[in-house]
Amino acid sequence: MSLYKLNDSTECIIRKAVERDAAELVRYSNIIGGESDFLSYGRGEFSHTIEQERQIIRDYSEGKNKLFLVAVIDKKICGVLTFWGNSRKRLEHWGEFGISVQKKYWNKKIGHILIDTMIRWAEEGGVVKKIDLSVREDNHTAISLYEDMGFEVEGRIRKAMKVDGKFYDFIYMGRIID
Ligand SMILES: CC(C)(COP(=O)(O)OP(=O)(O)OC[C@H]1O[C@@H](n2cnc3c(N)ncnc32)[C@H](O)[C@@H]1OP(=O)(O)O)[C@@H](O)C(=O)NCCC(=O)NCCS
Repeated sequence: MSLYKLNDSTECIIRKAVERDAAELVRYSNIIGGESDFLSYGRGEFSHTIEQERQIIRDYSEGKNKLFLVAVIDKKICGVLTFWGNSRKRLEHWGEFGISVQKKYWNKKIGHILIDTMIRWAEEGGVVKKIDLSVREDNHTAISLYEDMGFEVEGRIRKAMKVDGKFYDFIYMGRIID
C-alpha cells in the first residue's frame, strides 16, 4: 500500500484490491460507465453482481502475473487498473491492462501513479516482461498518458468498438519491461 499526495494536496492510497472492495467496485464501475464513451461498457451496462466481482478479485489475486489495483480517496475507490497475464507458460510474461479514473479526479496524476505502480510491480516480480493495451483512436488523453509512461504504438485494430452505431478503431500499444 502506498500513500500519495496529489497536485491539489488530496491524499490518495494505491493498493491491491481485496474481496471486501467488491461492493464499492460495483458502485464505482456503475459511475464511470456513464462518464466516458471510451470504456467497453456505457451507462447502465456494467452487469457484475457483488458476488461476481468478489470472484474476479479472487481470480486476480491468485496469479503471479495478474494485478488488480485500486486508487482510494476518503475511503472511496476513485481509480482502477487491472493487468491480466496469459496463463500458458510460453505466454505468461505477456498481458494487457485496462485503466479508469472517476471523472471528478481526472488530470490529478492518478493515472500516472497507477501505471507507474504496475510497471514497478512487473519489474520487481520478474515474470511480466511485456505489457500491452488497446485504446480508442480518439482517446487523446489516454494515448498521451500511455506515451508519457513509455508505451509505443504497435498496430491498429479496425472497427474494434461501436458506440451509438459508429465504429472506432483501437490503437494497440505496448511497453517492454527490462
Ligand atoms: C485516461 C484516464 C485513465 C487518465 O486518468 P488521469 O488520472 O486523469 O490521468 P493523469 O492525470 O495521470 O494524466 C492525464 C494526462 O492527460 C493529459 N491530457 C488531458 N487532456 C488531454 C487531451 N485532450 N489531449 C492530450 N492530453 C490530455 C493531461 O495533461 C495529463 O498529462 P500531464 O499530467 O502530463 O499534464 C482517465 O481520463 C479516464 O478514466 N478516462 C475514461 C476511461 C478511459 O478512457 N480509460 C482508458 C481506456 S484505454
